[in-house]
Amino acid sequence: MSSPFPLPANFRRFLNAAAFAALTAVLAGWSWTQGPQSTFDTQGPVAKSQLQVFYTTLWVTGIIFVVVAAVLTYATLKFRARNEADEHAEPPPQSHGNPLIELSLIAASVFALVIIAVPTLHAIWYTYDVPEAEKANAYEINATGLQWWFRFEYPKEPVDGAGNLVTGNELVIPAKRPVRINLRTTDVIHSFWVPKLAGKVDMIPNRGNHLWLQADEPGYFWGQCAEFCGEDHAVMRFRVIALDEKDFAEWLARQKQPAQNPGAAVVASAEQLHIEPAVYKFERNSPGWSDQFDTNPLQHWKEKQAPEHDENPALVARGRKLFQEKTCISCHNIRGHEGVGVTAPDLTHVGSRTTIAGGLLENNAANLRRWITDPNGVKPHNKMYVGVPMGGAVMAGYMKRDATTGAFMPNIQLSDSEATALVAYLQSLK
Ligand code: CUA
Repeated sequence: MSSPFPLPANFRRFLNAAAFAALTAVLAGWSWTQGPQSTFDTQGPVAKSQLQVFYTTLWVTGIIFVVVAAVLTYATLKFRARNEADEHAEPPPQSHGNPLIELSLIAASVFALVIIAVPTLHAIWYTYDVPEAEKANAYEINATGLQWWFRFEYPKEPVDGAGNLVTGNELVIPAKRPVRINLRTTDVIHSFWVPKLAGKVDMIPNRGNHLWLQADEPGYFWGQCAEFCGEDHAVMRFRVIALDEKDFAEWLARQKQPAQNPGAAVVASAEQLHIEPAVYKFERNSPGWSDQFDTNPLQHWKEKQAPEHDENPALVARGRKLFQEKTCISCHNIRGHEGVGVTAPDLTHVGSRTTIAGGLLENNAANLRRWITDPNGVKPHNKMYVGVPMGGAVMAGYMKRDATTGAFMPNIQLSDSEATALVAYLQSLK
């Protein structure tokens, strides 16, 4: 071996393994930088400024790492013990107090810190609130975290007789415009995060936080609660849909309308209705997303705004009736129809959303049926399943407590045809 540093065989094996691990990490990274929740695929000025801070810090610390590792490797190899005598040799003469070296190291450290600090402070300042010059153009939205979903309120969009426009789990915003989001929670600490648009900010009880973000172009973005908030924290998701000015105005106008009434006035009996067979069997944690959806989510969202092509008015009317009979109305509101609840997501236009169950499942007939017939299998111990605490009591959901034993027992049960009718009704709410 002609190398100046002949390496022991096991050390060479270690280097090979390390190189392989690094290559794997880089290749794996290549795919997750493209993913729907990648902070490297930035789509707005706030996320871009935060990514810039990451890269600045990475470069400075990366250079320090390479220099220190090179000196360490050199010293380790050059001065290693080569034979028996080396291992028992006296240490070489020691020295200390070299002012030139010490001052240069201090100066280099200060220089490195300044390079990191200046853009960091600038980004903190910039991302804290909408820039002064843009304030007049900013759009305002209130976001509230609940176990385990998000409520979005549009404070500048009053709805006749029903307060402000409220939606759930899908935040529709104007593109190319700063959006200021006021962050609140009704229970525990959550965190609002849209990786491609802006870094996370906590939603804290009794404290008003805010953030701002902007989507450079119309698009469909994934969001995620980023603070552990209970057993379903990991499946507390949402979407942000950024629309151009015209589409956004049209969406607002549609959303402000009460729920539509495509259903027939006379409710047909189950026998008169076409009921599909019970073919839906789901495993816990089985995926709820279609490849077809993922190829163009914004286009898919737009198509979702139109009425379902195979709507059955009689079935829809039966579903609307069941929505009352099965007590769904006590927690959910459907503006213009029955429904008084505010503890659960507003469902006035749930059929026009691309997601259900807190952004967990794609909104289609199969997933809706899965969600309303087995809520605990989709999102363990969610409040639709175990009920909502109301003062000292609990408003029962799919399960209720036995008064004497305290054991959970079934409260709401849906037959196959009832589930079909409810799904048809929910899908009709565009
Ligand atoms: Cu909400 Cu984690």
